[in-house]
Amino acid sequence: MNRRITLHAGRLLALLLAVALLPASALASTLTADASETTVEMSDTLYGLFFEDINYGADGGLYAELLQNRSFEYEDILNPRSVDHYNGWGFNLNFGATGTAIVSTENPLNENNPTYMRVTCTKGDYRFANLGYQSTTFSGGIPVEKGKTYRCFVWMRNAGDFEGTVEIALTKRTGKSIAVPKSFTLTDEWQKYELTFTPSYTEDAVLSFYMHGTGSVDFDMASLMPADAFGADWPNGGLRADLVQALMDLNPSFLRFPGGCIVEGSYYRSNFYDWKDTVGPIEERDENFNTWGYMMSYGLGYYEYFMLAEALGAEPLPVVHSGLLCQARDVFEAPLTIEETHAYAQDILDLIEFANGDVTTEWGALRAEMGHPEPFDLKYIGIGNENWDIVYWTRFEILYDYVKEAHPEITIVSSAGPVAEGSLPASAWATIRAKFADTIVDEHYYMSGDWFLSHTNRYDSYPRTTKVFVGEFAAHEATQANGRRPNNLYSAVCEAAYMTGLERNSDVVVMASYAPLMAREGMQQWTPDLIWYNAREVMLTPNYYVQQMFAETVGDQVVASEYDGINQLVYHVVTRTDDVLYVKLVNASAYEDAMTLNLAGVPDGDAVVRQLTGEKNAVNSFSNKDAVVPTTDSMAFAGGTAEITLPAYSVTILTFQLQ
Ligand code: AHR
Repeated sequence: MNRRITLHAGRLLALLLAVALLPASALASTLTADASETTVEMSDTLYGLFFEDINYGADGGLYAELLQNRSFEYEDILNPRSVDHYNGWGFNLNFGATGTAIVSTENPLNENNPTYMRVTCTKGDYRFANLGYQSTTFSGGIPVEKGKTYRCFVWMRNAGDFEGTVEIALTKRTGKSIAVPKSFTLTDEWQKYELTFTPSYTEDAVLSFYMHGTGSVDFDMASLMPADAFGADWPNGGLRADLVQALMDLNPSFLRFPGGCIVEGSYYRSNFYDWKDTVGPIEERDENFNTWGYMMSYGLGYYEYFMLAEALGAEPLPVVHSGLLCQARDVFEAPLTIEETHAYAQDILDLIEFANGDVTTEWGALRAEMGHPEPFDLKYIGIGNENWDIVYWTRFEILYDYVKEAHPEITIVSSAGPVAEGSLPASAWATIRAKFADTIVDEHYYMSGDWFLSHTNRYDSYPRTTKVFVGEFAAHEATQANGRRPNNLYSAVCEAAYMTGLERNSDVVVMASYAPLMAREGMQQWTPDLIWYNAREVMLTPNYYVQQMFAETVGDQVVASEYDGINQLVYHVVTRTDDVLYVKLVNASAYEDAMTLNLAGVPDGDAVVRQLTGEKNAVNSFSNKDAVVPTTDSMAFAGGTAEITLPAYSVTILTFQLQ
C-alpha cells in the first residue's frame, strides 16, 4: 500500500544530503508488489467526462453549428446592452444599397422563437450576413474548407411587399461567392429554405443574404453545418467531429451533463436549465441566457447528449436543478416553494421517461420521433449541482422521494457542495449518511497542485458504504500575467498523483471527472480546461493526456504495493485485470528516481511504458501542440524485476502481460 512516511528531522537531513551530494539521477527506490495480493475491487465507471456549456463548450464548440445567434434570440437578461439580437451579424454590407434591419416579434416563427429580423431593402441589392463566431465586420469568419459540403437552411417569409428574390451565398467578406449560391422566391408564410454549399476555397467566410428587389422580408433560424459533422444524420444536426474524436480518445465511462452552474442558472427562475426546452425541432427550442454570459441555442440538447453518450459508450449522468438558483451567485428570485418543488418533480420523472420510457409514453414517443425508439438505459441522475444547507436538503428530499418511488432502479447523485474541506461538506456528509446513504455523493474541488499532492490519502479513511463521485476537480496553479491559470505539466502531474489515490480507493470513489472539459480559445470564462480549440484546430493539454493515460489503464482490482525510497513526492498504484498488471508511477519532484521494480507473479516479457514528462511549467499551445505529449516505449522484464528511471515531473504507466 502507498504508505506515506512522516519525515523526521534526521531523515530530512539525509534527504537533503542525498540531494546535495549526488547528481539528480541518483535518488534510488524500490517498488514492491505481488500480482496475487489484491485489495479492493475497482469501479468500472471510474473515469468519465463532465460536459458543460462553459467557455463556448456547446455553442461555438462541440455543437457543429457555424452560425452565431442564428435565430436572433441573443439577449442578456441582466445587461441588455452587452449582448443583443444583432450579435454575430453584419448589416447593410453592400456599397450603394440602402435598407434597414429591425428586430421584430410580431407573428413569430413560434412562441419559443419570438424574435426575428425584418429586413427592408429600399435600393440596390441589400446584403447582410452571419459572420460566425469571434468575428467582426472586418475580420474573422466562418471556417469553411475547400471541397467539403455544408448544409444550410433558413426560415423566411415575405413580409407582404417584397418583390424580388433572396439569394443565399457563402461569400468572402467582400461579398464574392466561394460556392454556388441559390435564389428563392418567398411566400408570405414562414417556410424553411434549404441548400448546400461546396466551397472552392478554404476561407474565413460569411453567410450572405442578398435581397434582389425592394420591400421587406422576415428572416429567422438560419443554420450552416458541415455535412460530415458527427451525427450529421441526427434530426437537428450534429457535433464537431474533431472534438468528438478528442472525447472518444478519452475512453470515458460516463458523461455528466449539462452542468455545472448552468443547471441552476442565475438571478431569475427563468434561467433554470429546463430540459424540455432542449428537445424537439431546433426551431422550437427555447434558447436561454447562460450563467457564463452568453446564449445557449440548445442545439446540443438532451437528445444529442444521450446520442453522444451512447456513441462514446459512456453511461449518461444528467444533472437537474433542485429548485434553487445558483447558491454561489446573486439571486433575485426565491427558490421553488415546497409546493412548487412537488410539482417540479414531474419534470424529472419526465426526463427519465424521455431516456428510458416505452415509445407509447409521452416522452418516450418524442425520443422515438427524434430517431431513437430504443431506450437510452439511463441509470443515474444528479439532483442539484453545488448546493448546501437546509434550503437544499428539504427540496432534495422531496425530489429524491419521487424518483425513488417511481424509479428504484435509478441511482441518485447528491451534492456535497462546492468546496473540498470545512463545515460545508462536513454537514452535507452528515445529512447524507443519516438520510441519503444510498446516493452517490458529488464532491467538487479546485485546489492548488500542492493540495492535491498532500491529499492523495483523502479517501483512505472514508467509510466504504456511501460512494463518492469526484464530479469536478482540477489543479489550479497561480494565475499568470495573461490572466489564466495554466494547464501546465506540473498541474497534470499533481492530478495524476491524486488519481493514484482515487484508484487505490475506487471501492469508494466510483466516478471522477476533470472540469471544465472544453474551452474555445479567446472565449473562455474559466481556466484551466482540459481541451482547447479554435475555429479550426484542437489543442490537447498535459492534463488531457493524464486523464487519457489513466482511463485507458483501469484495472478490475487494486494490488497492494509498497514504495521504499526517500523521495516523498513519488506516488504509485498497482492494479490488475485477469490479463494485465498496471503500475502507475508519478514523480512530482524535481529529482529523477531510479527505481527497482520487484513484481511477484509477473512473467518475463516486455512491458509497455507510457510516459508524460517535461519541464515543470511546460504547456501545449496552438503553435506548439506537442510540447508535452506522452511517449510509448517498451521495457524488458525478467526474473520478477526491472529497473526504471522516473524523470522529474513525470507520469509513467507500465503495462505487464500476466498471461
Ligand atoms: O466547472 C466550472 C464550474 O465550477 C461549474 O459550473 C460549477 O459546478 C463549479 O463551480
